[in-house]
Amino acid sequence: MIQIAPSMLSADFLHLAEDVEMVNRHADIFHLDIMDGIQVPNLSYGFPVVEAIASIAKKPLDVHLMIVRPEKYVERFAAAGASMISFHLEAAENSGTDPSEIISLIHSCGVKAGIAINPDVPVEKLYPYLEQLDFVLIMSVFAGFGGQKFIEDTYPRLKTLKSEIDRRGLTCRIEVDGGVSPANAGELVRAGAGILVAGSSVFKAGNPGEAIASMRG
Ligand code: DX5
Ligand code: ZN
Repeated sequence: MIQIAPSMLSADFLHLAEDVEMVNRHADIFHLDIMDGIQVPNLSYGFPVVEAIASIAKKPLDVHLMIVRPEKYVERFAAAGASMISFHLEAAENSGTDPSEIISLIHSCGVKAGIAINPDVPVEKLYPYLEQLDFVLIMSVFAGFGGQKFIEDTYPRLKTLKSEIDRRGLTCRIEVDGGVSPANAGELVRAGAGILVAGSSVFKAGNPGEAIASMRG
């Protein structure tokens, strides 16, 4: 089953409730990008926005942490309503924190756990954690900004990862994030993606519901 996760970074913050209702009606998951200006060169939003979305969301909240020391905020995002939380492998490596411990912490909050990697991190680096993970988040642009151009090298990366997950008989899902649109959704799914994150291609579309339907198809 393919799930579409609109990235709320591209939503209209002056009319956020309308965009949340659109996701409730047409999509499967809310993708929420949390940036700290250190792990990535941009700032986004924090708890007040996540809690506001959670208060009217009828679909699960997927929190993508692009922050240093992600373990510090896992419990608060769980309390704010997250059903899925991912953190960057690069962030754990930089601080010398064992990714397995962060995964266990996320699970102890009753939340699904994912590890995200940027396009320059080999997918093999995820292999030690696949048994423990509910999903992996493969960035198809460098984390930090919406509206960037999709990196074509994502396809072979997905195929490699998908065959390893299948070879081990695991249920770990593959989420793809960055430059995803109706134009590449089909090929991404064929390469192994199960969750498609899409920001600008949904919210800048004349008809967001149609853009979502066409990615599903
Ligand atoms: C980028 C974020 C993405 C971003 C996707 O760092 O993780 O979720 O919002 O936006 P588009 O779909 O416009 O590339
Ligand atoms: Zn994201």
